[in-house]
Parts: sequence; structure tokens; C-alpha cells
Amino acid sequence: MEGRRFISDIPQAGLSRRQLLRGGLALAAWTLGPRWTRAGEPADVAPPEMPPSCDPECTRWALLSDTHIAGDPDNHYRGFYPYRNLQEVTAQIAADLPDGVVITGDLARLRGQIDAYENLKALLGPIAEQCPIHLGLGNHDDRNDFFRAFGPGYDDDGVVANKHVVTTEAGPVRLIVLDSLLNVNWMTGKLGPQQRTWLETALQSCDDRPTILFLHHTLNGELLDMGRLFEIIKPVPKIKAVVYGHSHKYNYSEVAGIHLINLPATGFNLARRQPVGWVEARLMQDGGEFTLHAIGGHRENDGRTQTLTWRS
Ligand SMILES: [Fe+2]
Repeated sequence: MEGRRFISDIPQAGLSRRQLLRGGLALAAWTLGPRWTRAGEPADVAPPEMPPSCDPECTRWALLSDTHIAGDPDNHYRGFYPYRNLQEVTAQIAADLPDGVVITGDLARLRGQIDAYENLKALLGPIAEQCPIHLGLGNHDDRNDFFRAFGPGYDDDGVVANKHVVTTEAGPVRLIVLDSLLNVNWMTGKLGPQQRTWLETALQSCDDRPTILFLHHTLNGELLDMGRLFEIIKPVPKIKAVVYGHSHKYNYSEVAGIHLINLPATGFNLARRQPVGWVEARLMQDGGEFTLHAIGGHRENDGRTQTLTWRS
């Protein structure tokens, strides 16, 4: 993992000295492994680091979305119990530990809330002790409650005010987790001008390794500044894929050679033909392999691998 070098290479446009320092400290914390503590306490920066298995040629990540954990572990919807689902998924992940985990938002059931995040933290705890977990925010999350539960500045690069942005390098690829949460429990999302400016500047400054963006909202109009995002990333060949959730549908599509990967929900589906589960990704220099692990819903494609080749 080489995240420390990456962030130091990127100009932190428009940031104060204090913000720069905060960003650097936050990155140092994450590089040592994201740690969380009880609500309201500062994030601990204790090791461990990345698992020694992180291969420079191929890195393996668990990709989840829409966990929808509530304060009540028995909360259920459409016959699904998100708390139990995440228990099952984390057990699967722990059984064959990846280099890291990304969850693309809607961590909480409806409106964020600390007790929901405390449950999420407990469920992820055993994995978090062994590999990094990067948590994106969705429209059913509350940024303030999230930071109150996980610790101020948890796993945050501090590069964009009032947004939760994470950048890391893993083996041959770079992962950037963006924040499309606009207002709690509003359906639509937005990156906003400051985050877009940061992204554009960062992409001009970093090396050309394949870069994958993660955010919550679907790219079909639910992300209000989708057009401006594509104006930034289309001309940048190093952007190979955008991974998101929100729709609770598992799907692959492509725009201008950029792969769009819609993750299934871990909490519950919204249509009978959709799986509930997670995706195991093997990310390489020239492409990726994405394997569905369906634990509920429509399971016909459980274990099936989608192979993608990156654009040049
Ligand atoms: Fe959702």
C-alpha cells in the first residue's frame, strides 16, 4: 500500500494550513489501519497495517453497498434482516480475508443515527482489526452521526470540507471513495463543486495507475451533478470504473469506455429478481474480475464472475 505517497503528491487546492495538517493526520491514521472507538472519542491510530498478502500485481477487495443497519438488530424489510445479512457477509469475508473492504453508502437504515452506526461498527469490528474498511455515505446516512459514532475524521482525507473522501492505493490500482450525500433521507445526491474541483486537481497530479471511483448514487439522474462528473473523468484515461449502489440492483454497463458497476444491496433487495449480497473484486493493471456472493434474494448468479478489461 502506497497511499501516503499519493496524497502528498496531490495539491490540496484551496485548503488552509490547518486543513492540510488534518488531512495528513487523517491519512496517517488510515495508513496504519482505520481504527474506531466509542462514540465521541478521537479515532485511534494503532496498527495493524495491510495484510501481507497485498499483491503488487493484483489486489482483492470486498465491495458492499446499502447495508441499511438500524439501531434495532431485528429491523426488517421485505422479509430481509439487514443486521443478520451483514453478520453472514462479514463471516464470509473474514473466512478469506481480502486486502480491504469498501461499502458504498446507505450504511444506515433510514436517517443515519448513532445507534445504527454503533451496530455497524460492532458488526465490522472483527474485520476492521485485520484490514482497512472504507465507508462511503449515502442518502440514508447522516455525516455528523457517522463521525460521532466512528470518531471525528474517521478514515477521512480531510481534503473537502463537509464531505467524507478517502483515497488509497492498493497494489496496482488507486481507489477513491467520494461522498454524494446531499441531504439526509433525500433521494438525490450531489458531489458538489468543491469535491469535483478536488477530484479534477487530484487526477491531474497523481500517477497513471488505474483508478476506480466509488460513490453511492446511481449515474442515471439520481446524482445531480453526474454530467459534470463525467466532464471531469471521461478525458482522463486512468479512470477505469465507477462503482456505486443506491438502486439495490446488480448491474454492469459502460459509458465512454468507463465501466459502471452497480453493486447489489447487502441489506435487502427492492425487486424479486435482484440478489442480496456482496461482490468480491480482483483488481489488476489491465482489468478486474468481479464475483457475486449472493446470500439472499435472487441467487441464480451466485458465484458468477464478470471479467472487465480497462480502457486504454
Ligand atoms: Fe439503499
